[in-house]
Amino acid sequence: MTQNMTLETVDVTSAAFKVNPFSTYKRWRDSKPVVPFKAMFGQRAWLITRYDDVNEALKDERLVKNKRNSQDPNKPTRDIPLPGFVKILQTNMLDTDVPDHTRLRALVHQAFMPRLIAKMQTRVEALAHNLIDQAQAKGEMDLMADYALPIPLIVIADMFGVKDRDRNNFRKWSHALLNINSPMDGIRALPSTYLLVNYLRRLFQDHRLNPQDDLSSALLAAQNEGSSLSNDELIGMAGLLLSAGHETTTGLIGNGVLALLEHPEQLMRLKTEPSLMKSAVEELTRFTPPVLVATQRYACEDLEIAGQFVPRGEMVYAGLGSANHDEHQFEQPETLMLDRANNKHLGFGTGMHYCVGAPLARLEAGIAFRVLFERLPNLRLAVKPETLRWNTGLVTRNIRSLPVKF
Ligand code: HEM
Repeated sequence: MTQNMTLETVDVTSAAFKVNPFSTYKRWRDSKPVVPFKAMFGQRAWLITRYDDVNEALKDERLVKNKRNSQDPNKPTRDIPLPGFVKILQTNMLDTDVPDHTRLRALVHQAFMPRLIAKMQTRVEALAHNLIDQAQAKGEMDLMADYALPIPLIVIADMFGVKDRDRNNFRKWSHALLNINSPMDGIRALPSTYLLVNYLRRLFQDHRLNPQDDLSSALLAAQNEGSSLSNDELIGMAGLLLSAGHETTTGLIGNGVLALLEHPEQLMRLKTEPSLMKSAVEELTRFTPPVLVATQRYACEDLEIAGQFVPRGEMVYAGLGSANHDEHQFEQPETLMLDRANNKHLGFGTGMHYCVGAPLARLEAGIAFRVLFERLPNLRLAVKPETLRWNTGLVTRNIRSLPVKF
């Protein structure tokens, strides 16, 4: 078993790494399947790169989400003290373990079932058409700001009853929060975090007075019916779903359109065989994943992962993007094959934290691709691909702006 290793010098959070992380991942899968790197506060963390190990780790109960569950209760903790409003947002299913996770997830599981999500098809189509109308009227389009972002943002905001006038503020606050890559970013994001928590408090207050046919009111009803959902959990739930519900899908739409434009023969197939859309969405999620790395887990005991010793309490990250390009799982992983069969990609994670919003993301992305290429058959990049800028950060991978001509 390997005990210690020097920290990796490649900056896995940099924009430069995001351009093509897959060649580096391949090198690591071949030589160093569990990569030690320096995490946000300077502490050591481990990135798992091989498909089988990632798949296993995400189902391993010894890797927990709540840091406290990994610590020895008899030893004093050295956690960085956080303001109360930051802790409220962490009171969510993605940051909890059983039994809280099971209770919280059960409350929204129903609302995101494919059967209910399918009913949103007409609404999402109308939204996509409307955005194309606006782009055509303007004569130009940044695919990210004008299409990939508004579709999932408006859909999830509507599901929670966020008013149109509040949407941009909400977007600004959650963007600051989702893009914390350094302690300084964390400090800078404090005002946004505070405003977001206050906004969500008001959202639920309004819904208490005026119940609506939406998720906010459904959660309040569950609270009243004695589901032991605390007020902090209510805010944590809305914060998580509203944030996770848009930046990720925005990334898939943007990354997917770029990949299709760069593979004209595949795009042509999709245009002539619309029935390919379902497998195309899966393949794009595999090939150019918007979530490159799952969120952090903590080893709750000393572990061995792929021969590497990982001490109790240390952070472990499952490399979804690397797993999705593992040649031991996928034939020709670096080739985009929209009709790929038996595509067991890990783009939506796996195990108990498997993406609850996957049916919604799939619906939105499928409609976004179809309407875009139907309405704008001559869509092409307006800039050279090498000038595109990618976001920074460990977890997500998306383009900041995608100027297109049509
Ligand atoms: C293409 C779009 C999306 C991708 C690639 C994606 C990916 C993921 C991944 C990889 C995880 C697991 C994270 C981990 O284990 O650390 C996850 C969890 C989650 N996702 Fe998504 N997601 C997408 C869209 C959405 C949408 C639209 C929503 C909500 C409306 C959503 C809500 C959630 C929630 C609540 C969790 C936590 C589930 C749990 O802890 O049980 N996601 N997502």
